[in-house]
Amino acid sequence: MKNITISLITFTFGVISLVLSCQSSDSNKVNPSTPASSDAKVLPDSVYLRMGKEYALGAQTVLGKNLTEAIQKKGTTYAVDFCNTRAYPLTDSMSKKFNVLLKRVTDKERNRANRANESELEILSAMKKNIDEGKSPEPQLVRNIGKVTAYYAITTTALCLQCHGNKDKDINTETFNKIRTLYPSDNAIGYGINQLRGIWAVQMDVRTN
Ligand code: HEC
Repeated sequence: MKNITISLITFTFGVISLVLSCQSSDSNKVNPSTPASSDAKVLPDSVYLRMGKEYALGAQTVLGKNLTEAIQKKGTTYAVDFCNTRAYPLTDSMSKKFNVLLKRVTDKERNRANRANESELEILSAMKKNIDEGKSPEPQLVRNIGKVTAYYAITTTALCLQCHGNKDKDINTETFNKIRTLYPSDNAIGYGINQLRGIWAVQMDVRTN
C-alpha cells in the first residue's frame, strides 16, 4: 500500500521538482498595481513557488493516501463515494493547516465546483502545451494585490484511470454507474496516463520577509 502511495506522489510531483527552478518569462510579471513600498521587500517568484509546492504536495499526499486506502479496503466503487464526500473536507482542512487557500481545478470537471475560471484555463493550456512538446508542465505564479497564487500540474498515473480513464477499457461497470449517479454530467473520463487532469492553485498572502 505504501509503495502505491509513494509512486503516486512521485509520479504526480516528480515533475514539479525538476522544473521548479525554471520560470517562464510570463510568470515573472508583477502586477503594476501592486503598491511599491520602499522598505517592503518583494520576494522572488522562486520563494513562493517553493512554498506553494510544499502545500500542494502536502494536500496531494493526504488525498492520495486516503484514496489508496479507500480502494484497498473497500474497492474502487466505494472509493468514488469517498472522493465525493471527502475530497473537499480534506482539501479544506489542509488549507486551514497551512493557512493558505488550496483548490483543485480543471478544464474537464467531474464536480462542477472544480471548473477552472478564464485565467486558470489559460494556465492549464500552457501546461498542456508543455506536455505536448515533451516537456514537464511548468509551475506558474500570478501576483495580485496582497496575494500570490502558485499553480502546479496534476497529471494522471495508471491508478487514476480506474475512475478517469476509458469507460470501456479502464473503468468497471459498477464504478462507472456510481460515477454517473453522483455526477450525471461528468466530463472527467477518457484520460490516458501522464495527461493533465487539472492543477493545484495555492493562494498565499504576500510576505515581506
Ligand atoms: C475511486 C475513483 C477515483 C480515482 C481512482 C481517482 N479519482 Fe479523481 N475524482 C474522483 C471523484 C469522485 C471526483 C470528484 C470529487 C468531488 O466531488 O469533489 C474526482 C475529482 C478529481 C479532481 C478534481 C477536478 C474534478 O474533475 O472535479 C482531480 C484533479 C482528480 N480527481 C484527479 C485525480 C488523479 C490525478 C487521480 C489519480 C492519482 C485520481 N483523480 C483518481 C474519483 C477518483
